[in-house]
Amino acid sequence: MDNRLFFPATQRNKNSIEGVLSKIIKKNGSILEIGSGSGEHGVVFQKRFPEIIWQTSDPNLLHRKSISSWIEYEQLNMKMPQPLELDVENIPWQIPLKIANSLQGIVAINMIHVARWTCTIMLFREAGNLLKEGQFLILYGPFKIANKYTSQSNYLFDKSLKMQNELWGIRNIEEVDEEAKRYGFLQEKIFNMPVNNFSIIYKKVSF
Ligand SMILES: C[S@@+](CC[C@H](N)C(=O)[O-])C[C@H]1O[C@@H](n2cnc3c(N)ncnc32)[C@H](O)[C@@H]1O
Repeated sequence: MDNRLFFPATQRNKNSIEGVLSKIIKKNGSILEIGSGSGEHGVVFQKRFPEIIWQTSDPNLLHRKSISSWIEYEQLNMKMPQPLELDVENIPWQIPLKIANSLQGIVAINMIHVARWTCTIMLFREAGNLLKEGQFLILYGPFKIANKYTSQSNYLFDKSLKMQNELWGIRNIEEVDEEAKRYGFLQEKIFNMPVNNFSIIYKKVSF
């Protein structure tokens, strides 16, 4: 059965995110994607970086079904593992040993603003447990800087998020950085991305 979902924003941002990943990713090991959604990113990145294993995950069953369908549609079954059922708040995360032992980094795209704040905290906490010094956690999405929206469209987007769920919302970059630090990550670089988004690269440092 074809359970593929199509997320318009994902189709629009996949090339620019791929550009950032190509600067960061090493040609071996695995990457864990949190909140993979439809799976459209996962299959594009797996094809773009064939030397690595792209491990998708999502707590939503319909999304995991879509990811599996995308893997099959793109004939990546032999290369790409099936999506993990992973909710960042259910700790400790259950990651197959093969992935955990070869992990080079973790990626979460457009995820932390559609989940409550404790999800951001748990994301850094568990990523901090899984990753070693020098490895990365990449966040992509809209952020506020010094508690200010970076555009009128982000202000309106934040309002629409909060109407869906009052605990959702565009996060303040300084508060995310604070949480990152608590779990051993330093912000290494920020890329300005199209339509007022950012890619933030955090690196695990030793305490
Ligand atoms: C806006 S979608 C983005 C999907 C995909 N990353 C993309 O950019 O197309 C947000 C995703 O985060 C997932 N998500 C929400 N809460 C989560 C949680 N607590 N742990 C992990 N993923 C979560 C949702 O199921 C959804 O797939």
